[in-house]
Amino acid sequence: MTKPKVFLTRPILESGMRIVLENCQADVWPGELPPSHEFILEHVKVVDGLLCQLTDPIDKEVINAAGQGLKVISNCAVGVDNIDVAAATGRGFPVGNTPGVLTDATADLAFALLLAAGRRVVEGDRVVKQGKWKTWGLGFMLGADLRGATLGILGFGRIGRAVARRAAGFGMEIIFTEPGIAEAEPGISAAQVDFETLLQRSDFLSLHCPLTAETRGMINVAVFKKLKPTAVLINTARGPIVDQGALYEALRSKTIFAAALDVTVPEPLPVDSPLLTLENCIVVPHMASASRQTRQKMSEMAAENLLAGLRGEKLPNCVNPAVYGAR
Ligand code: DGY
Repeated sequence: MTKPKVFLTRPILESGMRIVLENCQADVWPGELPPSHEFILEHVKVVDGLLCQLTDPIDKEVINAAGQGLKVISNCAVGVDNIDVAAATGRGFPVGNTPGVLTDATADLAFALLLAAGRRVVEGDRVVKQGKWKTWGLGFMLGADLRGATLGILGFGRIGRAVARRAAGFGMEIIFTEPGIAEAEPGISAAQVDFETLLQRSDFLSLHCPLTAETRGMINVAVFKKLKPTAVLINTARGPIVDQGALYEALRSKTIFAAALDVTVPEPLPVDSPLLTLENCIVVPHMASASRQTRQKMSEMAAENLLAGLRGEKLPNCVNPAVYGAR
């Protein structure tokens, strides 16, 4: 029996790759950088399955170019903002993602960034390496206290709650905006507040919402004006949720204390970005889920979604289950 043809926009990690290679005729883009849009356009015309990554824009043009044979689009990420899901649904293509397995790794990095920005860890390292450490001083390198501080979480889903669990261990108060959550997290005291209150009360504000039309540019000039001058912003969600020009100005003018970003616009952030000139801004390269086990599990989940779609079965993790109703 001939195996189904699939296109992988880059290799996934071994445990997932094994599953794909055992079951499919795979064409795998070998480059370190993602393939061009044109290359993806050509390939979707002739394959049964597409396994892509968050760096690949699977827009309307790609979806429309896909051949009749395409049965599944499997994204090796939990976020699917790189995919025009509505267009995929319109053509009856199920779209898979990888929720759950990256929750702890992402929450760990969010918390690492919270601590690093609040306690000036990266700046301190730079001070030492640049020979600027003159002596121990009572007023030297003062940062934020965690115990008793309020952590505002925008997006109280799986990852937001995992961050809340970590924050509770540090004695922080937790607030979030989603209504209708009776018990926020077992054993954790967290309160639901409105967006204005979240901004006014947060000592730390951590973003965990998906990128949608509503959240794009949500953290803007008006928001920075409402935050405390001691506030720390952490973004491990998606770059476009924050207006980066406004963030630069807020950090430069000390309207807020510090920020730590795992995600930016664009990615990679160019080295001449004004944000990189600021002592109170940490930027890391979209690495929140980059722990060894997590990335293997994401690869396996993406491979399983791909195979299910090729077999005509429901994807174990599908972001547009409406496609099944339509069939
Ligand atoms: C995702 O899966 O959406 C994450 O951003 C990857 O780190």
